[in-house]
Amino acid sequence: MTRLFSPLKVGAMDLDHRIVLAPMSRYRCTDQMAPDALMAEYYGQRASQGGLIIVEATHVNPEGTPVWNIYEAIRDSGGEAPGLWTPHQTQAFRLVTDAIHDTGAYASCQLQHCGRVAQSDIKDHPLVKGTDLPIGPVSSSAAPIPSTGEVGNQYNWDQPSTPPRALNVSEIARLHEDYVTAARNAISAGFDCVEIHGGHGYLIPQFLCDSVNRRDDYYGGSISNRCRFLFELVGKLVDVVGPGRVGVRLSPTFKHHIQYFGVSDSDPEALYSTAIEGLNDFPLAYLLLTEPRAAGLSEAPQTDGAFSEPLSSARFRNIYKGTLMAAGGFTPQSAKHALEEGHYDLIAFGRWFLSNPDLPERIRQGSPLNVYDRSKFYTNGAEGYTDYPDEDGAMGVAGKYPVMEQYKIGKTLNQS
Ligand SMILES: Cc1cc2nc3c(=O)[nH]c(=O)nc-3n(C[C@H](O)[C@H](O)[C@H](O)COP(=O)(O)O)c2cc1C
Repeated sequence: MTRLFSPLKVGAMDLDHRIVLAPMSRYRCTDQMAPDALMAEYYGQRASQGGLIIVEATHVNPEGTPVWNIYEAIRDSGGEAPGLWTPHQTQAFRLVTDAIHDTGAYASCQLQHCGRVAQSDIKDHPLVKGTDLPIGPVSSSAAPIPSTGEVGNQYNWDQPSTPPRALNVSEIARLHEDYVTAARNAISAGFDCVEIHGGHGYLIPQFLCDSVNRRDDYYGGSISNRCRFLFELVGKLVDVVGPGRVGVRLSPTFKHHIQYFGVSDSDPEALYSTAIEGLNDFPLAYLLLTEPRAAGLSEAPQTDGAFSEPLSSARFRNIYKGTLMAAGGFTPQSAKHALEEGHYDLIAFGRWFLSNPDLPERIRQGSPLNVYDRSKFYTNGAEGYTDYPDEDGAMGVAGKYPVMEQYKIGKTLNQS
């Protein structure tokens, strides 16, 4: 496990190990779309000396915020995702960054705008009603989410989406400013870094990919034009928060992979090679790539193909010159191999970190892992959130969850 536990300077952060908490929306925020003590406890539990915690998708404005009412549990419990446009939200995030820093870890805040995945219903949210805040959905073009045919998309393909409006050029400048404000707020809330969520079919891939982007101005047409929205945004955020404090997440997918929210490109190899090459021009903290094998996230861990399928995005290793991180379908064993074979510099764990607050230590010891309870991924309250136990008995409820030997993950599909 040597490389997993070797230090690495990542932009402005000095990491002691390579096991990162992947950003995961958990919908435990208050009705002000703000963190509270429970959310701070969750992140603090997963922090470790010299570790990196990427905090879940955080909305930069109401225009890009979906109303996640497709999930009964969220709708019934009133669970909310965080935003970072109000002073209260900014102040409340201090609880989270303090809890992360208290254990000697670093905190990155994932900034999110969902583009056409947002809904106009947000106008009735108590935080938005009666204000002149921008309301969506907006996108690169007025192209609605296709109602069918989204292979493997487990998120809201069964939800009627509001057709988006195409952003005009002056709105693009305003929208970039919304990101800038959120990034400033993140830094003043104590974050060490901000991450642009440029994946999973949300606003940025809606500009990058030609199934959505049909613009004929300098934000559309050629690949370099379609990358302009992202590059301008990265440049602005680096100017505001400084070098080594901005990360980017992208999720390159090819024809046989998941097409998140119906976003696809006719030449993904050329598109993502150009986008990733272009990111070399910026002093980023890291580039996080989603391995598309982690598509549905709904299988039992014994049988989830994500844990045994080969890497896809490692093909971009020879293009990107900075720190490269991956998430999606890693087991402790495959994470170790991916680092040792030089595919990636950092590995972000989602589901296994969600259910194992002391994941780095369990990996170091080779200990069994708590098995995640998918039914509580997006609900409200402490259950399935802060009650997963660590091995020392310092947190969570001992014995509450079944455990699984590390070598058995995905084993029925991968006998090697
Ligand atoms: C409950 C849950 C919420 C997620 N929310 C986000 C999110 O807010 N932003 C994001 O970029 N990815 C999100 N993801 C994807 C994860 O970052 C990660 O890529 C995915 O879980 C695959 O990694 P894994 O196989 O280690 O779980 C989410 C995944 C899960 C399971």
